[in-house]
Amino acid sequence: MTEPGFLRQPDARPMSEQPTVLPDKQPTLRVATMPADTNPAGDIFGGWIMSQVDIAAGVVASQRSRGRVVSVAVNAFVFKQPVSVGDVVSFYAEVVRVGRTSITVDVEVFALRHPTDPLVVKVTEATLTYVAVDLQGRKREIPTGVR
Ligand SMILES: CC(C)(COP(=O)(O)OP(=O)(O)OC[C@H]1O[C@@H](n2cnc3c(N)ncnc32)[C@H](O)[C@@H]1OP(=O)(O)O)[C@@H](O)C(=O)NCCC(=O)NCCS
Repeated sequence: MTEPGFLRQPDARPMSEQPTVLPDKQPTLRVATMPADTNPAGDIFGGWIMSQVDIAAGVVASQRSRGRVVSVAVNAFVFKQPVSVGDVVSFYAEVVRVGRTSITVDVEVFALRHPTDPLVVKVTEATLTYVAVDLQGRKREIPTGVR
């Protein structure tokens, strides 16, 4: 079983981990990973990360559209590094395109590992598209002149 990142010794870091720094802005979402979110190998389940990415992207899409949105497409999703139990995961979502009824959002995900010797690693990049809908689920135009 993979050793949880929380317990891993700093000198046992994989060579592939590229340390970085967290972006200088507030994350859309920040979550501490839990044992309940692991796959059979002991890493965090990819579906859990996809779910959190969808939540973060949906938050900014809903804010920009001033209302309800539904996800229409996952345009890209790259798991660059595994996430371990105990990692604190930050999701940075940003609107990159606004269409007539759709909004495209980029999400960057960073893990903060082993707090005794902190290391920040970019773990995931994703692009998702949402469509603004009314209360009946019919697509609606996105307001202009707002941010
Ligand atoms: C989203 C939904 C309302 C779109 O209805 P539709 O009549 O098929 O919409 P359209 O084909 O006219 O596309 C609407 C917008 O989405 C965009 N879009 C549609 N499919 C897309 C795709 N695969 N990738 C990117 N954008 C897409 C279109 O370009 C259009 O954008 P624009 O108005 O900014 O130019 C409808 O498909 C739906 O309800 N889907 C289910 C959504 C859902 O339940 N999501 C949760 C899944 S668990």
